[in-house]
Amino acid sequence: MSRNVRVLAARCCFDVIDQGMSLSEALPKAQTQLDNAPDKALLQEICFGVMRYLPQLEAICSQLMSKPLIKQLRPLQFLLYVGIYQLKFMRIPDHAAISETVEAARELKGQSLTKLINAVLRNVQRQPQLFDFSAAPAAVQYNHPGWLLNHLQQAYTTQWQQILEANQQKAPLWLRVNVSKINPTDYAAALTRAGIEYSRPLADLPATIKLAQAQDVTGLPGYADGWFSVQDAAAQHAALLLDVNDGQRILDACCAPGGKTCHILELAPHAELTALDKEPKRLLRVHDNLARLGLNANVIAADAAEPQQWWQGQLFDRILLDVPCSASGVIRRHPDIRWLRKKTDIEVLVALQQRILQQCWALLAPGGKLLYATCSVLPAENGQQIELFLQQHSDASLVQLPKQRSEQPFGWQILPGEQDMDGFFYALLSKSANSETQ
Ligand SMILES: C[S@@+](CC[C@H](N)C(=O)[O-])C[C@H]1O[C@@H](n2cnc3c(N)ncnc32)[C@H](O)[C@@H]1O
Repeated sequence: MSRNVRVLAARCCFDVIDQGMSLSEALPKAQTQLDNAPDKALLQEICFGVMRYLPQLEAICSQLMSKPLIKQLRPLQFLLYVGIYQLKFMRIPDHAAISETVEAARELKGQSLTKLINAVLRNVQRQPQLFDFSAAPAAVQYNHPGWLLNHLQQAYTTQWQQILEANQQKAPLWLRVNVSKINPTDYAAALTRAGIEYSRPLADLPATIKLAQAQDVTGLPGYADGWFSVQDAAAQHAALLLDVNDGQRILDACCAPGGKTCHILELAPHAELTALDKEPKRLLRVHDNLARLGLNANVIAADAAEPQQWWQGQLFDRILLDVPCSASGVIRRHPDIRWLRKKTDIEVLVALQQRILQQCWALLAPGGKLLYATCSVLPAENGQQIELFLQQHSDASLVQLPKQRSEQPFGWQILPGEQDMDGFFYALLSKSANSETQ
């Protein structure tokens, strides 16, 4: 495998867009070929950038070339995007961006295409007006697939542009202080002593810290001692909204990689927590996180929609359902999601979410609470799901959440970028005390 950053970037983008691999799988693999941190960071920046601006990069190439490169030349087409992205969006000197990209073409067996690639990049350099997309179709102007754009336009008539623009931003690094080990104010003082800039902007999340700059978290104070975890602020609401306490029986039914599992246990270390996930491989991360933070849970690999296969017969006081979803709220962190998800995935996900919700509801004790969560902004996975569930379950009632908006009566929708958080959805359901559960 190559050690050239541009070659690796072109191959990664090809793997994601043409082969359907996720960037979180393709990128770390490619990064193992590089031995220094700046090169790894450069590779990430280029790959994220190409994912963020793919329609515009394609549109520019189609203006400058009679037809795109196809078949075995596809990686070279992606190399062109890599080159154009550098010219337009990075502070790499133009001559270096062009010569490095042409050099990379040779390694990608594009010897005969170096002239073409050089010519395209020089045209891009000379014609800044190529980047004027003000009259382009919205999907190109906003760099999102048409189907997703339509969904957002329908659901958010006044906010869809704000959502699409937030999806183009780089996400901040949020920490959650492990309150079972250290007081958040003491941890903040440790960051100050280490010369790390941060803020604590969210009054409703006192253990939440936003770093001014992204960095390797293993170098932050107390990493090995489990003083903190990395978790977006939106996700840090889950354990608090669920209102967990020591002694409760709690189910976290879709738990991997365990961010919310650990948060629940930090707040209620003596709760009896069952942490379930369908993917045994992903559960390895849950075990690692529990071990680093010094926490305990009963971890099970099983299907939340098939409780007869794993449930021991005792009802739960609290249930967290952080269900599999479109992840349309976390596009700024995973810019490839918009290209990997297809319109038809949504109805499959909605049906799965509905099954998990129906099945797990039966495991909740009368008087208990269930928190339904997604990192989606699509109403079909969120408010509409809850509206239908409430119609079908007379023993369920919706608990009003403090920040829920009147125009969205069936839960709290956080939009991406709101208070610099990821897009997230929460609905808290309580079961009537005299419900007849199995
Ligand atoms: C949004 S992620 C959960 C994130 C996790 N709660 C956290 O905070 O770290 C959804 C998880 O649901 C799991 N999953 C998907 N289908 C499932 C099912 N039928 N039963 C249990 N888990 C499932 C996936 O493997 C994935 O790990």
